[in-house]
Amino acid sequence: MDRILLLPGDGIGPEVVAEARRVLEAAAAQSGRSLAFEERPIGGASIEACGEPITSEVLERARASRAVLLGAVGGPSWDHLPPDRRPEKGLLRLRKDLGLYANLRPASVFPALLGASTLRPEVLEGVDLLVVRELTGGIYFGEPRGTALVDGRREARNTMVYDEVEIARIARVAFESARGRRRHVTHVHKANVLEVSQLFVTVVDEVARGYPDVELVHQLVDSCAMLLVRDPRRFDVILTSNLFGDILSDEAAMVTGSLGMLPSASLGEGGIGLYEPVHGSAPDIAGKDVANPLATILSVAMMFEHSLDAPEAAVAVRGAVDAVLADGHRTEDLLLPGETTETIGCRAMGDLVLERLGRAR
Ligand code: NAD
Ligand code: IPM
Ligand code: MN
Repeated sequence: MDRILLLPGDGIGPEVVAEARRVLEAAAAQSGRSLAFEERPIGGASIEACGEPITSEVLERARASRAVLLGAVGGPSWDHLPPDRRPEKGLLRLRKDLGLYANLRPASVFPALLGASTLRPEVLEGVDLLVVRELTGGIYFGEPRGTALVDGRREARNTMVYDEVEIARIARVAFESARGRRRHVTHVHKANVLEVSQLFVTVVDEVARGYPDVELVHQLVDSCAMLLVRDPRRFDVILTSNLFGDILSDEAAMVTGSLGMLPSASLGEGGIGLYEPVHGSAPDIAGKDVANPLATILSVAMMFEHSLDAPEAAVAVRGAVDAVLADGHRTEDLLLPGETTETIGCRAMGDLVLERLGRAR
């Protein structure tokens, strides 16, 4: 019996997690796995219910779980709060507390969605990349941080800091991942300006010596952002720090056609995995049953692979998603601006994936 903690969160979080849970239950049953679910608030929902973006009880429940499935946090109701009390802090605390330093964000093209991206199909065909983002360090967590009044002027500061141990362990995740793929790592940095990036280059080179079968390229982050839309096929594994990975993964989402398609897994040393879509709480479409649940459903596939030791269930879930898209079903986000094809809602997309999963038995 594997314990799964559900943290739906805010905005479209509860809508997409509800669909992903149904798929998780069905695919687990098919592969003879039994799961026990618990649900707790996080983010804005937790601020409303408990006065803080995550409670120690929820952190304790997460530590007692095999895996955590999270929707999204944040929204305009809490945007006025200081960083330390915002919904996003709940998510950051969860990642840090569980030691989830390795964030895997795969972006590949579903053939049926080749026409759904704003990028040209001939540029996209065959794109299959993996962003390996460092998740528990860097400018997100560095001290000192905060705001102050200095000589009568408001001042704010954040600190980007990494030590060699943090860099080496995320680099190893990237090289190990590359061994199961096309054996190519692009390390993305800003070493022409930042000392932190210079240390990254040095330590990544040291780690690379242990992987002579994997090709390594160092790429400046600004030109990487350009190359991601010019020629995304050149990338296999992208290894980068917390902030650059956050930004580049949303950009990479556009090779899949929509941010609503990009899943993620966050892993560490403790054996617990956190699975969440890359997108946020999408307050502009929350509560309307129009969100695309596929990023969260594909995160469930990653959970089967990385936490539940059920690769066959991961294949089944991805196959069901592929088939539903091949049949032409689309949520609104998968249409190009101006396109008028008929669309389906979040719940209906969940229904179709479940139906396909059932047929695959
Ligand atoms: P967002 O990712 O929520 O939305 C960006 C755009 O993409 C919006 O137009 C939204 O409607 C669309 N979109 C996102 N997911 C979609 C889906 N599944 N289906 C269809 N359309 C989708 O980013 P934002 O609007 O910049 O941020 C909103 C809030 O979400 C902020 O409070 C932010 O801090 C938070 N956020 C949370 C997470 C997380 O919990 N992991 C990630 C990113 C942003
Ligand atoms: C993400 C999100 C988070 C991040 C926010 C909500 C803290 O943007 O998971 O990509 O910046 O890591
Ligand atoms: Mn982000």
